[in-house]
Amino acid sequence: MSEQLVIQSHRGPYTVAFDDTLLSDPVRLLEGEPHFLIDANVARLYEADLHAILDHPNTIIIEATEENKSIEETIPVIERLVLNKVRRDHTLVAIGGGIIQDITCFIASTLLRGLPWRFVPTTLLAQADSCIGSKSSINLGATKNILGTFNPPQDIFIHAGFLETLEDKDIQSGVGEIVKVHAIDGIAAFDRLATDFDRLFDDRAVLLRYVRAALLIKQRFIEQDEFDRGIRNIFNYGHSFGHAIESATHYAVPHGIAVAIGMDMANYIAEKRGLLPVEHYHRMHSVLRKNYGKYASTPIPLDVMLSALMKDKKNTSTMLRLIFPVGDQAAIQRVPVLPDKVFRSQCVEFFAEVNG
Ligand SMILES: NC(=O)c1ccc[n+]([C@@H]2O[C@H](COP(=O)([O-])OP(=O)(O)OC[C@H]3O[C@@H](n4cnc5c(N)ncnc54)[C@H](O)[C@@H]3O)[C@@H](O)[C@H]2O)c1
Repeated sequence: MSEQLVIQSHRGPYTVAFDDTLLSDPVRLLEGEPHFLIDANVARLYEADLHAILDHPNTIIIEATEENKSIEETIPVIERLVLNKVRRDHTLVAIGGGIIQDITCFIASTLLRGLPWRFVPTTLLAQADSCIGSKSSINLGATKNILGTFNPPQDIFIHAGFLETLEDKDIQSGVGEIVKVHAIDGIAAFDRLATDFDRLFDDRAVLLRYVRAALLIKQRFIEQDEFDRGIRNIFNYGHSFGHAIESATHYAVPHGIAVAIGMDMANYIAEKRGLLPVEHYHRMHSVLRKNYGKYASTPIPLDVMLSALMKDKKNTSTMLRLIFPVGDQAAIQRVPVLPDKVFRSQCVEFFAEVNG
């Protein structure tokens, strides 16, 4: 085992271990009384390495889809756990990306009034971003992430080898969140990342450096505001638009790529409203555009998207509460916006420009 981070939470400290030996020696995951919730693709791709886990009687394999990350589809998983005689001193172990994390964390928060859980993130997005911060989010019908809890895992094992089997779109999706975190850290951090942007895709050492950097930046915010009542809100940069794009396209656009489009859209609208210098829009646009690449041409039905945006849990009853970069330093902050005709036409112009 190599280095680790220690994150403070309301449940006490938990660790993120960068663990290159996990796949050759997954025995530590079998300690205690585990119940594994494993991503079906990971189970298939890593069958030989994970056979001890896959042969375990308390292993549940789940397809990582947004439909399965719903309150309805969580119930059969809970039923299986109950059938497997889960007890409060047992531990749920999630092995997968953000979807398996959200399902496991949500069940661990509610089943038997709370169970400990551990996490092995297998996607870039989960390794660089979602694994820390305590949140679980579950969908209800077409409304994304409307149910949830704050419940950190006991520990997290990051094994970089899992990244080797990810599809390009899932690397791009994780990079979308890495870009977001660096933009939040400030212009200098964003510019550093922009300089290295192409290397993220062809040099694993560079990518892993940014995974650690993103976790360190996020750590500063979640330790100050774990329950997302204040400063942590800015991590929703790109997310209100992003979630609405995911809903309106029935999840044809992967989460982190929708967030990248969402950041570009937020920057565009902030500039049009006189909140942001146009140079900053351009500075980020070239990087974001490369990141969302071919998804730029995905048809996004605007009215469906705007109606999903209106349902965002951060809104008040009359105003959208969007996260925009503001001012010369492009400081990321919350801005109330009236969802009026002007706002609608700014959204239309953005898509016309992106597709033009
Ligand atoms: N709880 C949080 O704090 C938080 C934060 C950000 C995002 N999220 C949620 O996370 C979800 C997105 O998560 P994600 O981007 O990790 O993707 P994901 O869990 O949807 O997985 C993406 C795809 O990668 C596959 N996969 C997973 N690991 C693999 C591997 N090692 N090799 C090959 N394929 C692999 C999965 O089967 C799936 O097809 C969204 O639902 C989003 O809302 C949660």
